[in-house]
Amino acid sequence: MHDAYEKAAEAAQWLRARLPAPSGAAVLGSGLGALADQLEDAQVIPYGEIPYFPGPAVSGHAGVLTVGRLPGCDTRIAALSGRVHLYEGHPVWQVVHAVRTLKLWGVRDLLITNAAGGIDPAFVPGDLMLITDHLNLTGKNPLWGHNDDRLGERFPDMSHAYDPGLAAVVRDCAQTLGQTLREGVYAGVLGPSYETPAEIRMLRVVGAGAVGMSTVNEVIAARHAGLRVCGISCITNLAAGLGTEALHHDEVKEIAALARNRFLGLVTAAMDRFAAQATA
Ligand code: HPA
Repeated sequence: MHDAYEKAAEAAQWLRARLPAPSGAAVLGSGLGALADQLEDAQVIPYGEIPYFPGPAVSGHAGVLTVGRLPGCDTRIAALSGRVHLYEGHPVWQVVHAVRTLKLWGVRDLLITNAAGGIDPAFVPGDLMLITDHLNLTGKNPLWGHNDDRLGERFPDMSHAYDPGLAAVVRDCAQTLGQTLREGVYAGVLGPSYETPAEIRMLRVVGAGAVGMSTVNEVIAARHAGLRVCGISCITNLAAGLGTEALHHDEVKEIAALARNRFLGLVTAAMDRFAAQATA
């Protein structure tokens, strides 16, 4: 994709003409869109109006950008309700276009959230997991092909893809709120079929705590662009073979809804503190 920069720059320019960029943005995963509804003095922009943003089709993903103040705070953030997934057939540049747009608009911190299956035997559905690192098993990479230096360098370092400073803030917020916060490595797979039990056993051996079908390409593009990244998974189910139930997307949305209040509390507190750090 030779014009990924131009496309993102056009989308960023379109946004800039309407709204100043907030310092932080959140990508909201399946069933986690409630944060956008909570934003105060909000402006809502359907993806279809923003250059090159597609309308996501998966249920649980709304397809709007909401900009507003975190509930009870002065901090403005942008919330992306709905993302595009590789399994929908989108090219990888399209999957990361929103992330690049956020960077060129002027956003500094990106909180990426998702629904994920729990692999770590200590995890139960409804747990929130701070992502400490990832395994990109999608078979794609958004930086494949020509590198546009205006987006970032050819070989970006991924040693600290998930910013240790932002992670420390999330841990601290969870403790203050009295919430249990899990931690682990997120395995990003292509999907859309759920994994087999044998695949889950393999992922456990290689150190994955949770598995999902998003996030990893977005994080690579975000680090390439120089965004500070934080990731939180909502464990919506035990991964294949670890529970007795068959896996179903309705369960994913249902459990994410049950974790809603804890998720909102943690994300609100953390993003408010990210913003304070960004301006310090
Ligand atoms: N596997 C992959 N993606 C998921 C899962 C899972 O078990 N749960 C939610 N997203």
